Amino acid sequence: MTEQRRILVVDDDDAMREMVVSLLGDQGYEATGEDAAEPALEHLRAHDVDAVVSDIRMPGMSGLELVGAIHALRPATPVVLMTAFGSIDSAVEAMRAGAFDYITKPFKRDELFLALERAFETRALLEENRRLRRAVDRSSAFGDLIGSSPAMHDIFALMRKVADNRSSVLITGESGTGKEVVARTLHFAGTRKEKPFVPINCTAIPEGLLESELFGHVRGAFTGAHATKRGLFEEAHGGTLFLDEIGDMGPGLQSKLLRVLQDREIRPVGGNQSVKVDVRIVAATNKDLDKEMDSGHFRRDLFYRLNVIPIHIPPLRERPEDVRPLAEALLAKHAGTDSPRRLAPSAIERLMACPWEGNARELENVLERALALSDEEVIGAADLPLGSEMTAAPSGGGNLLRVAVDRRMTLHELGDLYIEETLKQTGGNKVRAAKILGINRRTLYRRGERANAPKADEA
Ligand SMILES: Nc1ncnc2c1ncn2[C@@H]1O[C@H](COP(=O)(O)OP(=O)(O)OP(=O)(O)O)[C@@H](O)[C@H]1O
Ligand SMILES: [Mg+2]
Repeated sequence: MTEQRRILVVDDDDAMREMVVSLLGDQGYEATGEDAAEPALEHLRAHDVDAVVSDIRMPGMSGLELVGAIHALRPATPVVLMTAFGSIDSAVEAMRAGAFDYITKPFKRDELFLALERAFETRALLEENRRLRRAVDRSSAFGDLIGSSPAMHDIFALMRKVADNRSSVLITGESGTGKEVVARTLHFAGTRKEKPFVPINCTAIPEGLLESELFGHVRGAFTGAHATKRGLFEEAHGGTLFLDEIGDMGPGLQSKLLRVLQDREIRPVGGNQSVKVDVRIVAATNKDLDKEMDSGHFRRDLFYRLNVIPIHIPPLRERPEDVRPLAEALLAKHAGTDSPRRLAPSAIERLMACPWEGNARELENVLERALALSDEEVIGAADLPLGSEMTAAPSGGGNLLRVAVDRRMTLHELGDLYIEETLKQTGGNKVRAAKILGINRRTLYRRGERANAPKADEA
């Protein structure tokens, strides 16, 4: 025990109270006595107390009532009750009232000390738990997934809850919001982490091939199927299959996938034998599946099978708290450990003001380019390659033409913006930019200079 524990002893019996106070004092506690519940509460309001030892039977407020009052006033303060009769009833009552423990009079000194030490241990554990929980709640990452916003914290909590089970997960969110990171993090947070995480992009493979990719095929199933090949479902056995861009899956495959989800078994193309598979399906899409279902492009029954655990990631512009931690993490990821780089406060401020139509992916691109363009350890606002369409933060659509119309730009201003954008696209390569723009390099230099000069309203 490093610091002296303060204990308040409450008993209307003077001899008893004084004896307990002196016992505790001898044991190294700092003990104070009060002869009734009311002055004891007064004392608690005015002083820090680590524990209360109280008699039950007292004139006025009883010890049981005192426990309730202490809970309301100082919920973390444990109370040990002393019962004179040792009846089961008062013991039960004591615990029900919320006392930490009770001792029966007459008691041995060690009984009292033991009850108190246990109370302190329990309280320390509770405090530690609370501290840890607070730290987790406030932390800005869950595995590789970064986020400090309430929305991301809700997602962390949900992921933690479902990481170990097999229910299908459907991740939705705009492009670049981190759907794939969520899928991976979920896999590696759960008991399936020792088994494979198998991602497949449903748009990247033609529908005819996708079926055999997913379910495998037997030899001779189709021209070119020279050997039997295991599908991704089997490869992901015991693990997670990540079906990316599920909104783009063709109708034929949708019904086959639905059957797999219902039966938990697959049938390789050209085969007549089914194979049991234990795979968690995590699907993702940036499409509005409600719309896709209304228009008949996506099967409603498949949607319900996939959407057992929905995770929606809001766009970055609705999570301003995430911009800073994301920017810092993404910068560290691309800068490498040998050349640590920092963002100046002005740069962070500027990043927070951007609309981020492309979400975290766009933020990542901007930072990657900033790293390439500047050698300074500290990256300032001016080093950020943000197009004027970004800093202008147009409401709604972010494309160049929309911005031009919204801001009633002259043709010349639009031209400058287009030049600037093309230079960004080519990574600053003026020869290539000039080619794309169909102007000669001298013109590009002349106009590019002006396009890059700070605008009056930004200075
Ligand atoms: N919360 C996050 N924490 C860490 N990195 C993130 C986060 N969100 C996005 N990223 C990074 O942003 C980039 C885009 O993320 P990801 O590929 O997961 O987006 P997506 O939602 O799958 O986009 P798309 O719909 O275009 O496929 C990745 O490089 C990823 O590492
Ligand atoms: Mg993706």
